[in-house]
Amino acid sequence: MRKLITLCYACAALLLLSAPLVSAKELSGKLEIFSWWAGDEGPALQALIDQYKAAHPQVEVVNATVTGGSGVNAKAVLKTRMLGGEPPDSFQVHAGQELIGTWVKADRMEDLTFLFKEQGWMDAFPAGLVKQIGTDKGIWSVPVNIHRSNVVWYVPENLKKWGITAPASWDEFFAVAPKLKEQGVVPLALAENWTVNHLWESVALASLGADNWDAVWAGKLAFDSPEGVKAWELFGKVLEYTNQDASSLSWQQATDMVVDGRAAFNVMGDWAAGYMATTKKFAPGTGFGWAASPGTGGQFMFLADSFGLPKGAPNRDNVIAWLSLLGSREGSDAFNPLKGSISARTDSDLSKYNDYGKSAAADFGKDRIVGSLAHGVTANEGFMNDFASVMEMFLKSRNAAAAAKAAQQIAVKNGIGK
Ligand code: GAL
Repeated sequence: MRKLITLCYACAALLLLSAPLVSAKELSGKLEIFSWWAGDEGPALQALIDQYKAAHPQVEVVNATVTGGSGVNAKAVLKTRMLGGEPPDSFQVHAGQELIGTWVKADRMEDLTFLFKEQGWMDAFPAGLVKQIGTDKGIWSVPVNIHRSNVVWYVPENLKKWGITAPASWDEFFAVAPKLKEQGVVPLALAENWTVNHLWESVALASLGADNWDAVWAGKLAFDSPEGVKAWELFGKVLEYTNQDASSLSWQQATDMVVDGRAAFNVMGDWAAGYMATTKKFAPGTGFGWAASPGTGGQFMFLADSFGLPKGAPNRDNVIAWLSLLGSREGSDAFNPLKGSISARTDSDLSKYNDYGKSAAADFGKDRIVGSLAHGVTANEGFMNDFASVMEMFLKSRNAAAAAKAAQQIAVKNGIGK
């Protein structure tokens, strides 16, 4: 009898030991992930989903995407769902004001501080980034990457053919742009509306410099200051060298113009590196080249995609497992090399990244970091919506002083710097 009892104890101990191997908790049901990473933008997200499915085979993952670069359409759909009380389990949102000024302010997100502590993320992510996704009441999302906004893309061989090099300043660009035009080459490829804002922020950073850029968003330098007006003037000049059909193109089509040799340059975030390397299979450095957008060398305009846990998410446990994967070293280093971004973690395995990723990581480590307007870091959605109208007005009138004045008005209206 005693032998039997000992055997039972041994069996029980063995069972306990092997339990974690089976999985702490077998998850099941669904997980709906909402983002704008559709089609060409999908492979990196798919890599994460594949990892999730391998770890949680019983969960049905619904990859709910709404096409449209920079979330132009997805954000509207998300708003309807959130306000209608039908939140997705987890959704893509930019770190910074896009998250804090909307869903956190409206008290629609769960505080994730517990997960950050449990996963050791307080040390794994840079403190500055945790600040962007937090308030004094909590931490509201998990960052999956760091993208760079201020990058100019080109094809080295084409530049050689045209006898030019990548411009380090807008003046250098203006020196070569007319020659390109004469040869029937578009100097700077541009696409639909949001990419115009994207170009604006790179031009404004070049014109203002990092200190003044930060001062504008801190409410310490007015948009209609002489410096602010100058930025719009420079932007107007740059626009003269862009393609006429911009508004009908996606960002990928603007990248294609460069890749096909119809355009010399394109200023776009480094998801373009993901598109060219992952989708188009071009080799970084030879198939495509890059530099900081003109006049912004030594400055890294960043943005970060993140995912959160909305209150009332139908499958909360599955979301926690999703977020745990997103924030992990393995998840991050599976996602980012395909996406063109770098890991938001400080312990990323750089051997997994191509030459573009390695160079971005090196720049992130030494450059002056500033936040992106077009991708949610510096301003709230209210400002962004109003800014679209200011931009529309500028595109029609090309009146820099009027645009700067209108920008100042919407900054005050939307509490910029408050
Ligand atoms: C950005 C987003 C990137 C990329 C890009 C183009 O806003 O942060 O991850 O998706 O839009 O759609």
